[in-house]
Amino acid sequence: MKNLTPEYSLLGKQLSALLEGETDFITNLSQFSALIFNSLSKVNWAGFYLSTSEGHLQLGPFQGQVACTKIPMGKGVCGTAAETRQSQLVEDVEQFKGHIACDSRSRSEVVCPLIFDGELIGVFDLDSPELKRFNQQDLEGVEALVEILTAGTSLSR
Ligand code: SME
Repeated sequence: MKNLTPEYSLLGKQLSALLEGETDFITNLSQFSALIFNSLSKVNWAGFYLSTSEGHLQLGPFQGQVACTKIPMGKGVCGTAAETRQSQLVEDVEQFKGHIACDSRSRSEVVCPLIFDGELIGVFDLDSPELKRFNQQDLEGVEALVEILTAGTSLSR
């Protein structure tokens, strides 16, 4: 695992404690969203879009304002992260072609794919009302947290 900043290292410990003894998918994704939304500064939305058999991403557990319910694969920051399976760091959403403005306050964002046993399950999306709120360390920190989540969560319910 990459070197995490003290903030993400602490969040990782808190997340591990929170997930201990609990593997339910909806429960853990909900707890994850709430922990991040309430721990990081200048965040207006934190949550999941989950893959569906119809091929789009569907809104999952989240914290923040109501959001778009469906995102086509390959569209927006979330659809791009899902299609490429690559985390996306967007310093200015207005510079990202095809950005989907669910919450018009969002100015920058980080999106990480959620992969279980090699299968893409969805993405985690973190939005900020501030330009350039996130940097590479945030991206790596969020990726590390998502890894802790997938390791401690079961897909079957
Ligand atoms: N901005 C995202 C859409 C999701 S919301 O911001 C919650 C995107 O472009 O994929």
